[in-house]
Amino acid sequence: MAKTKSAFFCQSCGYEAPKWLGKCPSCNEWNTFVEERVIVSKNNPQPFSRQKSEHNPIRLQDIEQTDTTRTALKDLELNRVLGGGLVKGEIILIGGDPGIGKSTLLLQMAVKEQLTVLYVSGEESEQQIKMRAERIGIENPNCHLLIETDVSQIISHAEKSLPEILIIDSIQTLFTPHIESAPGSVSQVRECTALLLRFAKEMDVPVFLIGHITKEGTIAGPKVLEHMVDAVLQFEGDRNHFYRLLRTVKNRFGSTNELGIYEMQGSGLRMVENPSEILITNTDGSLSGSCISTTIEGLRPLQVEVQALVSTAAYGTPQRSSNGYDAKRLNMLLAVLEKRCSFRLASKDVFLNIAGGIKVDDPAVDLAVIIAVLSSNADIPVSRSYTFAAEVGLSGEIRPVNRIETRISEAQKLGYTHIFISSYNKGVKPKDYQIEVIQAKKIEDIVKSVFG
Ligand code: TYD
Ligand code: MG
Repeated sequence: MAKTKSAFFCQSCGYEAPKWLGKCPSCNEWNTFVEERVIVSKNNPQPFSRQKSEHNPIRLQDIEQTDTTRTALKDLELNRVLGGGLVKGEIILIGGDPGIGKSTLLLQMAVKEQLTVLYVSGEESEQQIKMRAERIGIENPNCHLLIETDVSQIISHAEKSLPEILIIDSIQTLFTPHIESAPGSVSQVRECTALLLRFAKEMDVPVFLIGHITKEGTIAGPKVLEHMVDAVLQFEGDRNHFYRLLRTVKNRFGSTNELGIYEMQGSGLRMVENPSEILITNTDGSLSGSCISTTIEGLRPLQVEVQALVSTAAYGTPQRSSNGYDAKRLNMLLAVLEKRCSFRLASKDVFLNIAGGIKVDDPAVDLAVIIAVLSSNADIPVSRSYTFAAEVGLSGEIRPVNRIETRISEAQKLGYTHIFISSYNKGVKPKDYQIEVIQAKKIEDIVKSVFG
């Protein structure tokens, strides 16, 4: 006999309470509790058969390590982000804004890899998916498509065909009849993921889940979802730009410092092998207000172009706006320039932009921001063969940044003639490099050597 029980779930973190609460005791969010009905059946039917025997404890020494557990993918960026390939039985969650290209990324993998793939969609029709697949180009004869939202049906199909990769688009559209709440609710999302997780582990099939994200930018559904899966990837970028970044947020089988870069084209996503060359605008003559910074995104060094525009404020309160760089940090750097270096910027509008629509968190961009602002203010161009990598402190000091050798080598490889770094970066031997390494302690020193 099935018994119906009703419980309240926090839609933000998945906390379960027997009665409605205004504030969640677990995540402190207000007004997030929603009543969901849960059917607890005594003899819960097994959604799929157990083919393997029960596990017994084994001594750690007795476990054989095999190297062949990873399947390398053709998509090198995805391969890199996953830590060198797909692991059997791995469950991967991919989150991202609507329309950013999550379905495209996974469909592209499904039609390009020479593996048996089952692509399950609860969002689009067969015709829509076929049209998209044709745009990308179908190369895989073993790509199967299933339009289904009942998770037990999906698992029984997958059990029969045992694909080498199972793709679910998206986890928020799935439901299990054992739980009465609507698809996309916390208990449904959690339960469907748990069933897929069991399938993945018992059948050794890697599963990709597409997850929607909320207004705040976190993956919709409970935080527990992120704890349950083996890897969480975030697909981001500006919808109006072509570049897309695939970041590892969590990875049980690899490093979380990986980054994949794609370009969205008419025929799907193209891997970008040398991002630095693409992110920088090629201008014939030098323009003022723009300079280049050697940043590190994940483990990859990346040259980004910082553009600034400083103009006399038309209204009493000057405007400060920033794209791709923290606006508060920009204000702080402007205050440093005003107070420590006596540059009068208080009556100027300052606009800042990181070219290519990407966001940078690396503090090493600070110096390039300052130089771009000063270059625009004085209308003096900065040489395109200079690159900058240092943080700027509150007293105007140039601070060291991590992995400076990697940055210098990358700048040298790309043919820059000068790199400006902090004097406090220990262990740098400028003589070891062909590129001129200029070390400075204060902003004034750098301003002298850049602008003369
Ligand atoms: P989609 O993959 O459906 O995004 P998501 O699943 O994350 O919501 O959509 C990606 C967008 O990219 C869509 O607006 C259309 C566009 N697109 C291209 O530019 N080129 C292509 O080859 C494809 C398939 C889509
Ligand atoms: Mg989609």
